[in-house]
Amino acid sequence: MSSYKVRKAVIPAAGLGTRFLPITKTIPKELLPIIDRPLIEFTINEARDAGIEEICLVSGRGKDAIIDYFDPCENLQRHLKEKKKYDLAQTVRESGLSEGQLCAVRQLQPLGLGHAIWCARSFIESEPFAVLLPDDLILGEKGCLTELLEVYNEYGGNVLAVKGVQKSQVNKYGIVEYSEREGSIYKATNLIEKPSPQETHSSLAIIGRYVLNASVMKHLGLKKTGSGGEIQLTDAMKLMLKEEEFRGFSFSGRHFDCGCKSEYLLAQIEAGLKDPSMKPAIQDYINHC
Ligand code: G1P
Repeated sequence: MSSYKVRKAVIPAAGLGTRFLPITKTIPKELLPIIDRPLIEFTINEARDAGIEEICLVSGRGKDAIIDYFDPCENLQRHLKEKKKYDLAQTVRESGLSEGQLCAVRQLQPLGLGHAIWCARSFIESEPFAVLLPDDLILGEKGCLTELLEVYNEYGGNVLAVKGVQKSQVNKYGIVEYSEREGSIYKATNLIEKPSPQETHSSLAIIGRYVLNASVMKHLGLKKTGSGGEIQLTDAMKLMLKEEEFRGFSFSGRHFDCGCKSEYLLAQIEAGLKDPSMKPAIQDYINHC
């Protein structure tokens, strides 16, 4: 059982969003909407619902609008209240963050996910922490990070969100090889970043949620490059495996890779179908396609 409360989370948001050009010329991909809320708000809400108190956003040039989004916008709230638009004023208030909850560091060069996490080392100090990748939207009754923290609180070590993928798709993910499975929990024996299908017998993929010990920073600080010539988080975790336990947890929610246009669209449809005011029109459209 772990005695540490996980209070901090790192959210990497420095990517250039090339798969969504041209919109990402001026809008960070993390601010692309799922109906009326940006992807990053889902990520931050998942973290807050899991009890995370402080968040560090790893951003880059042209991404300041993400920070602006989480301002409480007091003038706007006042204006909406004067116009008696109380529901909207509350929506604006709820989507803001309070003082000190959000800080940001810059990743000065696009050297990979591992490097982005390493940029948050001063924020993390020596505490265990969560990592959430905003591209991976997970919708469900219970937040994915809440589920991972339940596993972490029971077993300690490090915990990764996982899902089974097609064997032909393993080269798109970090892959967990495992020895034992207990329900939804897999005990990892090896972690490989984007292997070819021939390089691994496993097709259990890491989906962007992690609970990690701060010791990962020591390995990331070595700045060794791996897949794609980048500093990979999976490679640092593989080094940790020699001394620490890793468990994969097959979460209950539905995962959408919003870095992929078609899945981003499906996420919008899923969110629309969950909203009673939109569901009939969407269903009617689908039925007549
Ligand atoms: C990153 C990680 C990979 C993980 C994936 C989940 O890859 O490096 O291990 O499986 O996120 O989305 P990326 O999608 O940034 O290439």
